[in-house]
Amino acid sequence: MAHPLTVVIFGASGDLTWRKLIPSLFALAQRGKLQPDARIVGIGRTKHTDDAYREELEKQMREQVLKEKFDKATWDAFAKRIHYVITDATKPGGCKPIADWFAANETDPEARRLYYFSMAPKYYAAISSAMAEVGLNKGGAARRRLIIEKPFGTNLATAKALNDEMHKHWEENQLYRIDHYLGKDTVQNILVFRFANTLFEPLWNASYIDHVQITVAEKVRVDGRLDYYDGSGVMRDMIQNHLLQVLTMVAMEDPNKYNADNLRNEKMKVLSTIKVHSEADAPKVMALGQYKGYLDALEKEKEELRAKGEDVSKKAGRNSRTPTFAAIKLELDSRRWHGVPFYLRSGKALKNRYSEVLIQFKCPARLMFPLPAGQMLQCNRLRMVIQPNESISINFQTKVPDVDGVSLKPHDLTFDYKKSFPDQAIPEAYERLILDAIMGDASLFMRADEIERAWEIMDPLISAAEHATEQPEQYDVGSNGPACANKLLDCWQPIG
Ligand code: BG6
Repeated sequence: MAHPLTVVIFGASGDLTWRKLIPSLFALAQRGKLQPDARIVGIGRTKHTDDAYREELEKQMREQVLKEKFDKATWDAFAKRIHYVITDATKPGGCKPIADWFAANETDPEARRLYYFSMAPKYYAAISSAMAEVGLNKGGAARRRLIIEKPFGTNLATAKALNDEMHKHWEENQLYRIDHYLGKDTVQNILVFRFANTLFEPLWNASYIDHVQITVAEKVRVDGRLDYYDGSGVMRDMIQNHLLQVLTMVAMEDPNKYNADNLRNEKMKVLSTIKVHSEADAPKVMALGQYKGYLDALEKEKEELRAKGEDVSKKAGRNSRTPTFAAIKLELDSRRWHGVPFYLRSGKALKNRYSEVLIQFKCPARLMFPLPAGQMLQCNRLRMVIQPNESISINFQTKVPDVDGVSLKPHDLTFDYKKSFPDQAIPEAYERLILDAIMGDASLFMRADEIERAWEIMDPLISAAEHATEQPEQYDVGSNGPACANKLLDCWQPIG
């Protein structure tokens, strides 16, 4: 029998809490994966009672999350487990009320706690110290774990400082740094596809692969998050974390055993083989864009803040150079990947929400079939669609049925998740990750060294973007992104 469990959410009223954390815990409970005695404690400054907090969450679950699927009786049964502690945990002494709550409500000395930092990273260090003051960190990795949300630093120096700060009070094996892309089933399936089959791995190298494209395209704009986003941009928000993590899954070797240390060692090896470009090289390996209307939205928000009497002198408006789209080319210095470029691209306000890994195989060394004048052979492509319409397809040449000649036409062989697993919806990434953290499996969480290396790779490119004298190329909302991306690669897969 598992020891009692309490999940403590710092940032109880925040967006992430009601959008992802509570819905995921609720879904885990419905699946029977959350132990029946598990409790959830929200921490915040708002003067809620337990009941008032439950009502606030119920409203969001009913109106924003579950909508017509909301069932009052099921919710009420779950909501009984939710509690609330009023305090400002960022202040010295601010975690005393939490320690008091545990003193009054937790009796089993072996009870487990999963803490969740679901608030702005600028508070992480202060909360961590306040927790340590009252011993909330004490108990070892089996009983005290802490999930930390991104962004984890804004460059190598700040990420190191934050790691050092966290390590003052926590062992590395107590820290679960989340990258929700690793929680996606389709991302985990990259490893299954590669290492649980015989067919593909022998071809998975520089002898057969021409290049790799990793795309995470979004249709949404940044409205509502401009203040955060303008200081971050697509390179920090998406590429440094989600895209580099997907790259490691595509490029890594298989560890002798699937466990957190081995897996992360292999991912770290991949990151360490990525060539760090210099700032001066950036124009050759990076293309940036900004969607039309981004600057207007930024200016509008600035005006609204000014009207409220806030100091906006340091806020960018029409002069912002923040890229909302970036494409970069990376090279891996390993025997397996020598000479195989990895093209990564991500952007907002694009044509579709569409994420995929595309493996472009080399063309046959020679072709005995004559092609019509001017026609190029479309060489084999493997596409792993991460979302939506999750699927894997292999594109290959076929003979068009006819009585004379041989004419070729490419076709797809496709595995479609929804058709193959009609009764098993793809779970929400947060469900998987929260459950893993509860079980103490850190395989899908980022280790300190991975985060630091990812910044080391990105820092010169981010500096180049920030020091650019020109605005990123403007692109139309709903397009494939800026034309400059084609200078890096002329055969990008269309977005969706
Ligand atoms: C987050 C970024 O990490 O990932 C957001 O901060 C982005 O800007 C989101 O929209 C994308 O996640 P998903 O799962 O919707 O592709």
